[in-house]
Amino acid sequence: MEEHIISAEHLTKRYGDLLAVDDLSIGVRKGEIFGFLGPNGAGKTTTIRMLTTMTPPTSGTVSIAGHDSVREYREARGSIGVIQQHNSLDKDISVRENIVHHALMQNMKRSEIRKRVEELCGAMGLEDRMDSLVEDLSGGWKKRVSIVCSMMHRPPVLFMDEPTTGLDTQSRNALWALIKKLNGEGATIFLTTHYISEAEALCDRIGIINKGRMIALGTSDELRGRIGVVTVERQNADGTTDNAYFGGRAEAKAHMQGLPEDANVSIRRTSLEDVFLELTGRKL
Ligand SMILES: Nc1ncnc2c1ncn2[C@@H]1O[C@H](COP(=O)(O)OP(=O)(O)OP(=O)(O)O)[C@@H](O)[C@H]1O
Ligand SMILES: [Mg+2]
Repeated sequence: MEEHIISAEHLTKRYGDLLAVDDLSIGVRKGEIFGFLGPNGAGKTTTIRMLTTMTPPTSGTVSIAGHDSVREYREARGSIGVIQQHNSLDKDISVRENIVHHALMQNMKRSEIRKRVEELCGAMGLEDRMDSLVEDLSGGWKKRVSIVCSMMHRPPVLFMDEPTTGLDTQSRNALWALIKKLNGEGATIFLTTHYISEAEALCDRIGIINKGRMIALGTSDELRGRIGVVTVERQNADGTTDNAYFGGRAEAKAHMQGLPEDANVSIRRTSLEDVFLELTGRKL
């Protein structure tokens, strides 16, 4: 049987009448970068909060590294690092103080903390900012501090909720490189995003979530294959477009030949945006 380091079965979260997450089942393989892609309000943060024991599911189960998140809460919690959508750093104290405080909360020993701080802050290029107050840092640097905090106790599984939202291109690229490095060192990464390019660039597999439901799951190519990997886009005189999807170039070309000669058409690779639009009728 395939080893799933993160496993959720029939996960559901209700807030009153609102079904924020609706019967979601996911298995994430060890060593994978798994992306959770969906528009605002789709249920990404709610899912991460359930997967990371921060909020209990209304129903369904979660297991992390083989530990049930309710019955074996401590073990499950000890296996994960979490970078929340909005940072939970204390802005009135320094970078170092934030990191040390976080590590003490994880029951790490002072001597161990000292070594690990040096190692991680070196890797993140934070050496020169260790004594800065968090409130004086830009969003990109704060994100790096959050990452160091989440990594201190060497969790094998890292959850990142929209890690690059609000970052400039440079910080985003640095963070992508870091995510790949951590993954290369063996960490399993579960991240959420509403950037298609991010999901495509980083993730081994992508789950698309809409209105609390997982509507598609697979590699980027598998998802594109769901509707057809080649798109013929036809621009209409009224400014609207009609897309037709095909399994290959030859079929797409044949379709184009059947269209009126004056039709304004182009052929291109199907995108994940097309997949989302086709499956939901909405843009991401
Ligand atoms: N504590 C809460 N109480 C009531 N409703 C909530 C709560 N948290 C989230 N919701 C609702 O649940 C739905 C899913 O929200 P969630 O934050 O999980 O979405 P998201 O995909 O993370 O969105 P975003 O991209 O904006 O971060 C939304 O309709 C939201 O308003
Ligand atoms: Mg969110």
